Amino acid sequence: MTTIKDELLYKIQTKSLQVAVIGLGYVGLPLAVEFARAGFRTIGLDLDHHKIDAINSGQSYIADVEQDELMDVVESGRLKATMDYDILRDCDAISICVPTPLSKTQDPDLSYVIAAVDAVGDYLHPGTMIILESTTYPGTTEEIIIPRLLHNGFEVGENVFVAFSPERIDPGRKDFKLQNTPRVIGGITPNCGELAFALYSQIVQEMVPVSSTTAAEMVKLLENTFRAVNIALVNEFLMICDKLGLDAWEIIDAAASKPFGFTKFTPGPGVGGHCIPLDPHYLSWKLRTLKYNARFIQLASEINTSMPSYWVDRIARALNEARRSVNDSDILVLGVTYKPDVDDVRESPALDIIRLLEENGARVSFHDPFVTSLHDEGLETPFTELTPQILAAADCVVIATNHSSYDWATVQQHAKLIIDTRYALGPVKIKQQSPVLSPA
Ligand SMILES: NC(=O)c1ccc[n+]([C@@H]2O[C@H](COP(=O)([O-])OP(=O)(O)OC[C@H]3O[C@@H](n4cnc5c(N)ncnc54)[C@H](O)[C@@H]3O)[C@@H](O)[C@H]2O)c1
Repeated sequence: MTTIKDELLYKIQTKSLQVAVIGLGYVGLPLAVEFARAGFRTIGLDLDHHKIDAINSGQSYIADVEQDELMDVVESGRLKATMDYDILRDCDAISICVPTPLSKTQDPDLSYVIAAVDAVGDYLHPGTMIILESTTYPGTTEEIIIPRLLHNGFEVGENVFVAFSPERIDPGRKDFKLQNTPRVIGGITPNCGELAFALYSQIVQEMVPVSSTTAAEMVKLLENTFRAVNIALVNEFLMICDKLGLDAWEIIDAAASKPFGFTKFTPGPGVGGHCIPLDPHYLSWKLRTLKYNARFIQLASEINTSMPSYWVDRIARALNEARRSVNDSDILVLGVTYKPDVDDVRESPALDIIRLLEENGARVSFHDPFVTSLHDEGLETPFTELTPQILAAADCVVIATNHSSYDWATVQQHAKLIIDTRYALGPVKIKQQSPVLSPA
């Protein structure tokens, strides 16, 4: 007898399965395009009509999604975007890629996931597969999603199938994209895992199945906690070296020559983006419910969030040596995004540096090849062009993000004083230049 699972497997193999992707941001749009490129009829759902209009006219708003790739799948009719959830009646597989922010009290805010799951629940039919990709605390899929879907008498693993697969995309990265980044997947039941594995195998080269949705959720949190903790370690190492009058970067570079047992992380202005500053708090929140204090996460967060004020102190010290104060200085911040070569300013530590400098009376302006206004972030800081005259006019130039398009030689030639939070200039080069001050 052919089961619903067999039918779905057949539809996956013959590409006759209709896929929906809910949430078309940094994670969802590349996923939707990849499913469409693989030959699946794909529907993208979002609440933002600007995104829907952009996709349907073939305009990519995510740097990692090539314009012609998007245009190709839209023109061929394989990808359509809509705000109308009714379309889910006709969809077999639904990937959910909505935001998972923190509340003001740093607790998980699952409201976007819950809204999306409830909307999916209204259109659930036998033979629906649901895969959650949003980063969340271990147990979410089992404890939050399943009870919300099962009120209509559906049976998970028999006629509906639920899995968790964390997105590991690294925006702006050119060598590892969705297709060649191994994909972790865990199902609520073995049938759920098998189906999700079969579907994602169509778009990803290597699959990493794990035993449960909870294990898959935990994998993502380990990865991001690992980064948060190691970045905090080198950030503290930078502050320790500063106290000892040593150049942290020189030491980190030398340590990184060891071919085993050392993984290089670099200090910087703090951590930003939607993942590293937030995701570990999902895990520590879960642990608090079990009366366990996740100490590394807490300490890493404290160190990383203190970095902007450390750098503002460095700026004040450097200005002081030049007989100036932060108050009344003209400070130019280069790069405001949370990492190089992306247009994302969410949680960017550069913004905290700007806020602190402005609170201390500096006249701050910024330049970024990807951002021309910070109004949405509540900042009035003016954007400025980047010219030799503007560089020379600033009392201090702060490198907060090392976008690859920046011409550091020009910056170094014209700026009076540089504080390089990103090691963009390198330790040796910067030391040879006077009056430019080494950041370490
Ligand atoms: N950005 C990253 O680098 C990255 C990497 C890995 C994992 N993640 C995780 O993936 C998830 C999504 O992150 P993102 O960066 O793509 O977020 P994003 O803000 O760029 O995109 C989310 C989209 O979901 C839409 N949305 C919200 N609620 C909706 C609903 N009910 N129905 C339809 N659309 C809805 C929003 O309008 C937005 O377009 C988060 O959990 C994040 O932690 C992000």
